[in-house]
Amino acid sequence: MPLIAAYDAYADWYEDYVSGKAAPYTRRSGELLADLLGAGAGACLDLCCGTGVRAATIGALGWTPLGVDLSRGQLRHATARLPVAHADAAALPVATGSLPAVACVLAHTDLPDYPAVVREVARVLRPGGRFVHVGVHPCFVGAFADWSDRPRVFVDERYADRSYTTEAWDPSGVRARVGAWHVPLADLLNAVTAAGLRFVRAAESGPGGVADVLGLLAVKPG
Ligand SMILES: C[S@@+](CC[C@H](N)C(=O)[O-])C[C@H]1O[C@@H](n2cnc3c(N)ncnc32)[C@H](O)[C@@H]1O
Repeated sequence: MPLIAAYDAYADWYEDYVSGKAAPYTRRSGELLADLLGAGAGACLDLCCGTGVRAATIGALGWTPLGVDLSRGQLRHATARLPVAHADAAALPVATGSLPAVACVLAHTDLPDYPAVVREVARVLRPGGRFVHVGVHPCFVGAFADWSDRPRVFVDERYADRSYTTEAWDPSGVRARVGAWHVPLADLLNAVTAAGLRFVRAAESGPGGVADVLGLLAVKPG
């Protein structure tokens, strides 16, 4: 399937959205990123960096953020925040075993084959290197979940449907614009271990009782 940089058409909108309407979600997902990544030194690849909104969080922990994204529109904003490269997350222009850390934030539902991307992460990490995944919560966020009657969240049978869709309860959000692939919880966890990474810790965050963000920390053995 040809890769389409779906965010090119929405980059200016996304730049405003993450610091405007979605600011609380951006803040909470950033807190999970900081908690799981922790302090460190050396390069941290901000995989699918978008507009570079995570660069400050990564840098504040002592890491040197480097961004990769498929969308030149998103990268136009990101260049003001971190050094970037235009590349596909599944085929990184990065030497094998070279990076101490990789973070992928709010991007797994944009990728048609997330397990392949996690395998690529495992390739570029050096032994002992950290991988932090932060994404929409696979159990409670997706086309299968309706949040319009908060604090109740209605989850239906489409949880089992892994296909791409632009269906979304909120027509003003990201997913109604660019669509999403759904990765059920078991698939997500299995992608990490199948890539040869050692799962270390998970963390959740939500606006009330139900979590809408899930974060994972895994390490490359060695
Ligand atoms: C929802 S945005 C998240 C951006 C940023 N990480 C954040 O936390 O706001 C998802 C990003 O993934 C990028 N993306 C989608 N497919 C990609 C691919 N195959 N390779 C690299 N980046 C990709 C998009 O261009 C977009 O910038």
